[in-house]
Amino acid sequence: MRLILLGAPGAGKGTQANFIKEKYNIPQISTGDMLRAAIKAGSELGMAAKKVMDAGGLVSDDIMIGLVKNRLTEPDCSGGYLFDGFPRTIAQADAMKDAGINVDYVLEIDVPDESIVERMSGRRSHPGSGRVYHIRFNPPKADNLDDLTGEPLIQRDDDKAETVMKRLAVYHAQTEVLLGYYNKWAQSGLPGAPKYRRISGVGPVDQIRDAAFAALSD
Ligand code: AP5
Ligand code: ZN
Repeated sequence: MRLILLGAPGAGKGTQANFIKEKYNIPQISTGDMLRAAIKAGSELGMAAKKVMDAGGLVSDDIMIGLVKNRLTEPDCSGGYLFDGFPRTIAQADAMKDAGINVDYVLEIDVPDESIVERMSGRRSHPGSGRVYHIRFNPPKADNLDDLTGEPLIQRDDDKAETVMKRLAVYHAQTEVLLGYYNKWAQSGLPGAPKYRRISGVGPVDQIRDAAFAALSD
């Protein structure tokens, strides 16, 4: 299984990616998680990316395309992969297409903007695994600790209300166009075209998981 998860910031891509990667036994390629790991490691890439991420902008296409192509050469990607947060611009999508890096499905998770700020303000993450919680909608079993490792959860630096608004604006300006891009490609029936599936991301997390599984099996 090879797929792309599309959706606004906070739509639940990371949350659903955790279920999908388990079911299909594929790696989750989250470009956001990769950049946050680079920040934590204090690398040059991390330092440059932090400024852009904290401002709610996008890291340059060249850097992101290089990072993903490099990740795909690792052996765990040979049986499939899940893209979470990539591609995010037409240039990134075209680069994948030109390199013949295709997917079986593009799954769009649709959540209206009104729900996003509330989701982000209550988000807590486990940096080691990328597992995501919400203090009200998807709380961890023990207060502020990851369910599996018991390690502390963190709040992301870019989850401040004004940064979230900027990220949403960037999504509408640069990423939303990919919905039409992949939908059109899917309908073309051309070789390499993915199947396009759209589900609502509003409702309980396990209900959306079931909808995602159903969408990916037809
Ligand atoms: P990235 O980490 O990709 O952030 P994002 O796309 O903005 O998405 P999020 O991770 O914020 O949301 P999500 O959809 O994963 O939702 P989640 O499951 O966590 O990117 C961060 C930054 O890195 C970018 O701004 C950019 O600067 C840079 N970057 C990354 N990739 C790049 C690229 N390709 N090119 C250029 N720059 C790039 O859920 C959110 C919250 O909602 C959680 O608290 C969760 O528990 C809760 N929740 C989930 N499902 C539900 C539900 N059904 N009901 C209620 N609450 C729910
Ligand atoms: Zn995410």
